[in-house]
Amino acid sequence: MARPRNLMTLRKLRQNPFVRELTQEIQLSANQFIQPLFVVEGLGSKAPVPALTGVFRETSESLLKQVEADLEKGIRKFLLFGVPQSKKTKGFDFTFTTEQIKALKKNFGSDIWLAVDVCLCSYTDHGHCGILENPHTVQNDSTVAELARAALHYAEAGADCVAPSDMMDGRIAAIRDTLSEQGLLEKTIIMSYSAKFSSRFYGPFREAADSAPKGDVQLKDRATYQIDPSRPTDAYLSSLRDAKEGADILMVKPAMPYLDVLKTLSTKIRLPWAVYEVSGEYAAIELLAAQNLMDGPKAHVEAWTAMKRAGASIIISYGARHAPKWIPK
Ligand code: PBG
Repeated sequence: MARPRNLMTLRKLRQNPFVRELTQEIQLSANQFIQPLFVVEGLGSKAPVPALTGVFRETSESLLKQVEADLEKGIRKFLLFGVPQSKKTKGFDFTFTTEQIKALKKNFGSDIWLAVDVCLCSYTDHGHCGILENPHTVQNDSTVAELARAALHYAEAGADCVAPSDMMDGRIAAIRDTLSEQGLLEKTIIMSYSAKFSSRFYGPFREAADSAPKGDVQLKDRATYQIDPSRPTDAYLSSLRDAKEGADILMVKPAMPYLDVLKTLSTKIRLPWAVYEVSGEYAAIELLAAQNLMDGPKAHVEAWTAMKRAGASIIISYGARHAPKWIPK
């Protein structure tokens, strides 16, 4: 019996890898991945981060070796988190992180592209991303002043990009003005964590960066500065504001639970978009894979494909260093 003309035969283009490759709409490239790095002051030796397979808390020495190994695998773009030993309430000292930037740039120069996370949560004794005014309030403006000072130190030390992740109001403008006054704005990219949600998926990171908030009931989490998961409009306004203040790249974070936000915002605001596949998301796949409940590398590629589909150019992932191997050729 002849098949009715109007019947769609969509399986024709699924029948073998050749037609499937030819008809792909989304292509992953390891060139658009950024690998996070943690360097911890006073650490005796390189130590794995629980649940983040293949990710380590590095010493100053092991950091250089790790980057060398990554370069050999073709990973050249990094996001550095400096974790100083002594924690403070104010008057932070950014020397440790600055020294790591200088060492990386001295050793690898323009072979690497180095972004540096700008936040205070690894610097404060309470783990919040800013200065506490009283036990209950993270003070906006004094925090912004410290963040701008940090960004300036990092840019002077040779960072190619500064990436503020604190979620204070006005920090992009302050960083921009500070860099501009010092003649560093032209060469330093500002990547704003513009749509950063208050999320449970940051758990493993806070172990790695000593940054779990230790406040009282009112400050037990970061809900007074990070975006509420139920408020996509806040993410839009925050990203629009950061774009106007001079951010070069915007970001949605976490990734998978917020792909609807990424899709909408990347359509509305035409700047390059990064997405941060955060520690809990990466670890969830790794833990399932370790239980033989799924194929880890293929699951990561599937998740990354979804992030691209939603509009990301840049993917920040703990698995970036595996991307050249895991992405099908
Ligand atoms: C710090 C910061 C966080 C992450 C990047 N910068 C965590 C937080 O807000 O507690 C998240 C990274 C991750 O979970 O992988 N402001």
